Amino acid sequence: MAAGAGPGASGAPRHADGVAANQSVPRHVAIIMDGNGRWAKARGLPRAAGHKQGAEAARKVLRAAGEAGVECLTLYAFSSENWRRPETEINDLMGLLRFYIQHELDALHKEGIRLRIIGDHTAFKPDVVAMIDRATAKTAGNTRMTLAVALNYGARNELVKAVQGFAAAAAEGRLAAEEIDEARIEAALDTADLPPLDLLIRTSGECRLSNFLLWQAAYAELLFVDTLWPDFDGDALHAALAEFAARERRYGGL
Ligand code: FPP
Repeated sequence: MAAGAGPGASGAPRHADGVAANQSVPRHVAIIMDGNGRWAKARGLPRAAGHKQGAEAARKVLRAAGEAGVECLTLYAFSSENWRRPETEINDLMGLLRFYIQHELDALHKEGIRLRIIGDHTAFKPDVVAMIDRATAKTAGNTRMTLAVALNYGARNELVKAVQGFAAAAAEGRLAAEEIDEARIEAALDTADLPPLDLLIRTSGECRLSNFLLWQAAYAELLFVDTLWPDFDGDALHAALAEFAARERRYGGL
């Protein structure tokens, strides 16, 4: 058993973070939604059609995750590296974001889903920033489930910002080096108020983390599936959850 771990209230072994060692439903699932472009290319369609179908897949998977009892779903929608894509593709993605906030926000709110953003969405166009801010404010009090959307997110940058915050606090005499521990680092990350990451899925057969949740993935189960993201659906999520339930998590113990 990991150092500091002991039996949880339920009798199940618990990790030092308070995570049930072998819980059957992951509290927090994150997905790298990859393969939209290849899905479109295989059908002779423009890449935008792949992203459109990908956004529909995200909508369905969110519902399936909620019904399965997942507390938090984090989706990698736009990485800090995605600015390297052609402007037309970035505009398509922003158009989708506008469309889904406009058309889905009321449903999300009624279903008790809180929208959280990780990353720095303030780099987007002002109307998109305002829309996102209104949506997060409106749903901030919802408690049934959290949808965290990673927008202009990069894990290395998230860690750089945390370190800069510590350095500034230290320079002002508010923080001593020995006060910096794992809990303080976690609290300085964009995911501070989210449950520990249990399961990270990447679609489309690529086996990389691509600068996503690098700190948070330390003890997450990783699942790489061949399905292209637009084809991923509720059944595919259930299969991933079944795979998670079958794995034994030891956190360095025996
Ligand atoms: C990766 O596929 C996907 C993305 C870069 C964006 C993910 C976006 C969505 C699922 C649509 C919803 C997003 C918003 C912002 C509402 P890829 O284009 O890299 O696919 P490829 O590797 O096959 O080219």
